[in-house]
Amino acid sequence: MANFLPIFSPHFIIIFIFSISIILISSEHHGYAKTLNKKVHDLSKEKLSQFQFYWHDTLSGSKPTSMQVMPPVSNYSSTTAFGLMNMIDNPLTEGPRLSSKLIGKAQGFYVSTSQEEVVLLMAMNFAFVQGKYNGSTITVLGRNPVFSKMREMPVIGGSGLFRFARGYVKLKTYKVDNNTRNAIVEYNCYVLHY
Ligand SMILES: *[C@@H]1O[C@H](CO)[C@@H](O)[C@H](O)[C@H]1NC(C)=O
Ligand SMILES: *[C@@H]1O[C@H](CO)[C@@H](O)[C@H](O)[C@H]1NC(C)=O
Ligand SMILES: *[C@@H]1O[C@H](CO)[C@@H](O)[C@H](O)[C@H]1NC(C)=O
Repeated sequence: MANFLPIFSPHFIIIFIFSISIILISSEHHGYAKTLNKKVHDLSKEKLSQFQFYWHDTLSGSKPTSMQVMPPVSNYSSTTAFGLMNMIDNPLTEGPRLSSKLIGKAQGFYVSTSQEEVVLLMAMNFAFVQGKYNGSTITVLGRNPVFSKMREMPVIGGSGLFRFARGYVKLKTYKVDNNTRNAIVEYNCYVLHY
């Protein structure tokens, strides 16, 4: 009977304790995760910034910045262009005119996602090119019912000066050309970051 439970043999217990110590020691020396001090990493003061700019969706002409890469799922039953996808590299400017100062680019895509009204799922990075924000980005992912007067989408993150960013954008159409469907949209971006 005694040989039936080798687990209680002194030999086994020594090996067991030895392996536990190896596990404890190795987790101390090769840990992949640590807790850092926010103050040391300059993350103690969160601030709120607002940016206002204009987003230019240019579909026509010799230099479009917004291009259809997928057609709608069907071309007869849907008036909402359900399934359509456009890839964008849209300029963001300080004023409503395309010729005004370039703040950055909105790079990403939008997809038509409603069968009842024109609603876009938008996924884009605002890649800033001016001053201290040059090289920093803000990421927006949200729902845009384009014919509503005021729309809102979440800011879900950022890079550079916008690390740990969170917030939202408010947008309203400034101008649409009914023939070309080129649009200029006013964006107000509210971001908490460090
Ligand atoms: C659009 O619909 C028509 C008929 O409904 C069809 O003949 C045509 O191939 C469709 N075009 C595309 C691009 O799907
Ligand atoms: C922004 O950064 C890029 C790359 O570092 C640089 O080439 C460009 O001149 C900068 N632009 C401004 C306006 O500072
Ligand atoms: C463009 O179309 C919208 C809705 O379809 C209409 O309300 C608006 O008056 C049109 N604008 C022009 C300049 O024709």
